[in-house]
Amino acid sequence: MPSHDDPLLQPYQLKHLRLKNRIMSTSHEPAYSEDGMPKQRYRLYHTEKAKGGIALTMTAGSAVVSRESPPAFGNLHAYNDEIVPWLRELTDDCHEHGAAVMIQLTHLGRRTSWNKADWLPVISASPIREPAHRAFPKEAEDWDIERIIMDYASAAQRMQAAGLDGIEFEAYGHLMDGFWSPATNKREDEYGGSLDNRLRFTWSVIDAVRKAVGPDFIVGIRMVADEDWEQGLSKQEGMEIARRIAASGKFDFLNIIRGHIDTDAALNEVIPIQGMRSSPHLDFAGDVREATKFPVFHAARIADVATARHAVAEGKLDMVGMTRAHIADPHIVRKIIAGEEHRIRPCVGATYCLDRIYEGGEALCIHNAATGREISMPHVISKASQSKSVVVVGAGPAGLEVARVAAEAGHRVEILEAADKAGGQVMLASKNPRRKEMIGIVDWRLAELERLGVPLQYNIWAEANDIISLDPDIVVIATGGLPQNPPLSAGDDLVTLSWDILAGSVKPGENVLLYDDNGGHQGMSAAEVIAQGGSKLELVSPERFFAPEMGGMNHVPYMRVFQQQGVRVTINTRLLSVKRLGNQLIAILGSDYAPDYREERTVDQVVVEHGTLPIDDLYRELKPLSRNGGAVDYDRLVNGGAIFPVRSEGQFDLLRIGDAVHARNIHAAIYDGLRYATRF
Ligand SMILES: Cc1cc2nc3c(=O)[nH]c(=O)nc-3n(C[C@H](O)[C@H](O)[C@H](O)COP(=O)(O)O)c2cc1C
Ligand code: SF4
Repeated sequence: MPSHDDPLLQPYQLKHLRLKNRIMSTSHEPAYSEDGMPKQRYRLYHTEKAKGGIALTMTAGSAVVSRESPPAFGNLHAYNDEIVPWLRELTDDCHEHGAAVMIQLTHLGRRTSWNKADWLPVISASPIREPAHRAFPKEAEDWDIERIIMDYASAAQRMQAAGLDGIEFEAYGHLMDGFWSPATNKREDEYGGSLDNRLRFTWSVIDAVRKAVGPDFIVGIRMVADEDWEQGLSKQEGMEIARRIAASGKFDFLNIIRGHIDTDAALNEVIPIQGMRSSPHLDFAGDVREATKFPVFHAARIADVATARHAVAEGKLDMVGMTRAHIADPHIVRKIIAGEEHRIRPCVGATYCLDRIYEGGEALCIHNAATGREISMPHVISKASQSKSVVVVGAGPAGLEVARVAAEAGHRVEILEAADKAGGQVMLASKNPRRKEMIGIVDWRLAELERLGVPLQYNIWAEANDIISLDPDIVVIATGGLPQNPPLSAGDDLVTLSWDILAGSVKPGENVLLYDDNGGHQGMSAAEVIAQGGSKLELVSPERFFAPEMGGMNHVPYMRVFQQQGVRVTINTRLLSVKRLGNQLIAILGSDYAPDYREERTVDQVVVEHGTLPIDDLYRELKPLSRNGGAVDYDRLVNGGAIFPVRSEGQFDLLRIGDAVHARNIHAAIYDGLRYATRF
């Protein structure tokens, strides 16, 4: 579609602000803040999206207006004057590339913990616990409410001083909507009961903010308009709030949310992950737009350009949030304009990004290792000073990424793969029908490699001589790993590997025990496949809770299936050995806690997941023939300089990446590919 006809590329006038197209990134805290400030890492992350053509980037996620709202996941400190110059720098940089910048302000209410920052009390409309953060909050008193209203006003003033184009209040699952929702507001004073009373705090905040920033500054609200929850805010009341806000003349846009977020399972519906419906709340947001005739923004799994285009073309939204889509590819708009929509790196919904922040890490994309690492990693690969010949062995995520990036850098690359398909463990992961989008990680790279003219040969079990005959400058071993058994005192030959279940090469038994001593998706996905197939299943984990390597968002669909299918989950328990009894197996279980603890299970199949061991024969064969003996200078890898030390007379440098080094995850494999190939 020509740019001038594309609904997504039409400008949007919001008050005095001309947004250059309809695509935005909604507010999200990537936990890149340092001391609560958006420093260089934060700035470059947003600037990259601005360079990529986005119209509006909404910074922070829940920048906190008050000291007693301690960051739950690295939130910015909007209550601190020091934030102004940091935000000014970020905003100036984004403006330079034509993107508008706004920020989300909030008081987290009960959605945080008391044992953080200054150890001040957690405050909420009523003293009702939020399961996800586990605080038992205090009911906000009059002096709390008065202080917080003023905190909003001074925070808004700081944002205006920083040159931001606007702000939005967060009103879903935090303090503001905590007053709206019958589930969290049981007050009997003038802040509880009638809708007028429940909205009192919101009006006080906007009035104080307007007094502080004046009528022209853009102020919107990201609000729940239906909690989709029996005891929560109904659609009818939510719509009424939206109507009143729109009619008040005090706000400039609505950013619509449907659902509630106090548990992982509930949050999962608001921020749907892979395997869930695309854009599930888009029609609802369109209803709000229709009912209010007011500017409406919205994001929830609008991951592809076609859906985003539909949202604008059909008048459902004014601005389309493609938030995780930009974490996966910050250059979406640039690619649309260039007629390269097909080259957009797809967000596969893995939600590694969000799960990491809830597990105390920073947001990283499962298959874009440059996101959040803009200080050191490029999104657009520059040409190398010298073109080298690179042979990559293995077409899993590490091999495909190293080949893609090396080819982008102008090297002559070829790939040899032993199997008849690319993808390695990602291909295996995508065998679970619910996770089939994972194959996007492979397909996008295969398409890029084809565009770059990189030959990929399948069914080649490469040996040292095959490699040497290609006369390479650099050989990359990305051969991955093979699954290993957990340490068992007996019965190694009696167990089935989770890989075989996922690949479909071994059928699940009728009565299965699955022992997961890895803690990630591999075991869980095999368990899901077994349970969905109707087998009786017990999942055994030595951990304090199952699959600790996987975050809360990804936990939800597994747990749902486990409960629906009656899977028994046993934690804190190790598989010690397996023996045969007739056509049955006996699994002997023990514990790290009570040395004499023993239990037995009689099943017809024991499935194990214990990570992989590297396939490194070829690497070891090539090591003595290489110039660097396989060595990498890690200091130089991190700080700059030639990464391969010269250790002998060999003709080529040898590098081993991904799970061919040791068992890690997809992101680690892809980060290896990117960080090394940019240094060839
Ligand atoms: C890492 C991460 C952090 C987030 N933090 C916030 C937040 O602080 N406030 C907020 O309103 N939404 C937050 N979100 C939700 C996003 O703004 C957005 O609603 C969500 O990702 C769904 O949109 P998408 O499908 O386009 O990604 C966060 C999302 C992610 C991925
Ligand atoms: S981690 Fe997954 S959900 Fe998050 S941006 Fe990357 S592809 Fe999308």
